[in-house]
Amino acid sequence: MIIHRLSFGLAFFALGLVSLAAADASANSAVASYVPPARMEGNMDSWVALAIVVSSLVTAWTISFSAPGVRVFGTILAASGCLAVAAWFFLFVVNTGVLEQPKPNQTPMDSAKPALLWIQAMIALSAGLFLLLLARRQASNRESLVLTAANNKHRYGRVSRLLHWTTAGLFLSLIPIGIFASMIPEGTEYRNAYYVVHKTIGVTAFLLLLIRLAWNRLSRRPALDASLTPRERKLAGGVHKMLYFMMIALPVTGFVMTSLHGYPTYFFIWELVPLWPKSDAYIIWGGIHKYLLPYLIYIILGAHILGALKHQFIDKHQGAFKRMGS
Ligand code: HEM
Repeated sequence: MIIHRLSFGLAFFALGLVSLAAADASANSAVASYVPPARMEGNMDSWVALAIVVSSLVTAWTISFSAPGVRVFGTILAASGCLAVAAWFFLFVVNTGVLEQPKPNQTPMDSAKPALLWIQAMIALSAGLFLLLLARRQASNRESLVLTAANNKHRYGRVSRLLHWTTAGLFLSLIPIGIFASMIPEGTEYRNAYYVVHKTIGVTAFLLLLIRLAWNRLSRRPALDASLTPRERKLAGGVHKMLYFMMIALPVTGFVMTSLHGYPTYFFIWELVPLWPKSDAYIIWGGIHKYLLPYLIYIILGAHILGALKHQFIDKHQGAFKRMGS
């Protein structure tokens, strides 16, 4: 209940911010003279963003499908998504020269970005291989997955699973694309394309979050697994609240930073011109979007994933995975 109120409060705060800004923008002459950065020919950047969104959706849909064969296909798709992130890094990013000669650092923390990308690519590669092995094991399971659209007391239903795994897929691409985009030197041909893809997927993740918050109100989330100790329960509850907070705070701060910096927000072929007059306040919002929240999300996502894996493989309690997995 508290998480619902907190999330709704923050979502409305975000929407309020946007509408206030819209009113402010109409009075601003600097915005009127705004010239948007050039887009790729044929809006290729929007097509790439669409491909990432659609493949996240299809993967999320198939991994919770009733027929076992389709679920195996879903796991193979999820593996391919992880391997695609690794392939993008090892086959493209490392050959661009950007890792060795990035845009000049704005803070000393920027020098950690190549290492961060390497770590994320290694994690994506390991996750991809792990999922391929999982698909092989899954292939011997002939059981149908019986799920309703709504959640029940013990399990998430189809709608929540679709929203959860699609968001997970979008985050998997958003984070490395955001880091790489911020390293590409000004004037590089493909620089703006990365911003188009990052912002489009970021806005999509935010829209999915709004749907998720509405859905949580219609269909109560299942209780935490009964086998959790009181301490684990507290920890899992705290991590879930923080994840919701992050899903709101990351796109909102990205959007405000972008607007205050004088750049547009993209949503596929559409562009939302900067809503505020250009201001140095973007540095503060950028500090939150680029440093504070990403480092926090590495810790929280790490705790969320490690917690679920510990529960499944060390404590050998199947319940936690079954709530959201098959
Ligand atoms: C769930 C949504 C989002 C996530 C998880 C996310 C995550 C990130 C991350 C990890 C970075 C790299 C930070 C760095 O190392 O410098 C980044 C950069 C960036 N993000 Fe986002 N972001 C999201 C949504 C958005 C949205 C909606 C916008 C704008 C409308 C946006 C605009 C930007 C920009 C412009 C940069 C690059 C800043 C620079 O060039 O230095 N982000 N984002």
